Amino acid sequence: MDAKRSSIPARLLDWYDAHRRDLPWRAKPGEAVEPYRVWLSEVMLQQTTVAAVRPRFATWVARWPTFAALAAADDADVMAAWAGLGYYARARNLVAAAKTVVADHDGAFPRTEAALRKLPGFGAYTAAAVAAIAFGERAVVVDANVERVVARLFAISVPLPGARPAIRAAADSITPDARAGDFAQGMMDLGSGVCTPRAPKCLLCPLRAQCAGFATGAPEAFPVKAARKAKPQRYGTIFWLEQDGAVLLVRRPPEGLLGGMRALPTGAWSDAPPGLEGAPAPADWRLLDVCVRHGFTHFDLDLALAVAHTQGHQPADASEWWPVESLASAGLPTVFAKAAETMERLR
Ligand code: ADE
Repeated sequence: MDAKRSSIPARLLDWYDAHRRDLPWRAKPGEAVEPYRVWLSEVMLQQTTVAAVRPRFATWVARWPTFAALAAADDADVMAAWAGLGYYARARNLVAAAKTVVADHDGAFPRTEAALRKLPGFGAYTAAAVAAIAFGERAVVVDANVERVVARLFAISVPLPGARPAIRAAADSITPDARAGDFAQGMMDLGSGVCTPRAPKCLLCPLRAQCAGFATGAPEAFPVKAARKAKPQRYGTIFWLEQDGAVLLVRRPPEGLLGGMRALPTGAWSDAPPGLEGAPAPADWRLLDVCVRHGFTHFDLDLALAVAHTQGHQPADASEWWPVESLASAGLPTVFAKAAETMERLR
């Protein structure tokens, strides 16, 4: 590392000591770190923001405070508690990893990045983050905030995602042997509060003099992004069937998107609006003039809403009547929760 860059770790750690965010999963200075909380927060934060995770984290640890509690949890409860936090595979893996920890590791995490990597759901990021933050191992932790900070510090001009190996190597070159967990969290906090995607606050940055991006005069140009391809558009219809103040819910097939989740019935999702095809029961269906939009990773989905009332309809297997008033407790995935909100507004 050249002389200018060699001061980065100490400067960043000093800044972190003075400005670190007070987050519920972080140990305060002098407190013991709880690996369960570190892991859970890292998995929750992979697809959503700190602000969104805070209340969800609190509810979760009140309900399942330890590996043992989570290992014994009912799968359907865990899935419902995960609604809105991203891929359900993550929640399944949380339970699977908790079970492995209880069965094979005496109820505690193994302490190295390499051993953590073998647990269900531990990709490169999670293993590095837990090893560094919970156990102080020197590991290179690169999330989206760190990626941006490093791309700017080193003015890496290759577009993402091709720039990732260079960003990782650069992050490796500034990660200290001691306090790697604080270093990682300091980089995250810097990225979140100072080195922001738009209008970075360079005047407040402890690394300004070391930053090649700042020296270019346009640090916000980094990381460079490849032009984005438009996502395919798909269509479907949500069928809102009411009977005696209850709405029909189904359990989605175990395989595929939102597998195993409770849901409102939809027909197949296709390339053109399917209208009333695939309704769950014969009824006097009315297509409303509203649409629920949801962006999945690989496609955007537009769902029309169809409404009908029945009497004496017996739900098929994997279907149930759910009181409309308590729909919030059904743990519906976000796309269906949006539809329920739309229905509530229309009532
Ligand atoms: N984002 C992901 N992990 C984080 C952490 N430990 N602290 C702050 N932001 C984060």
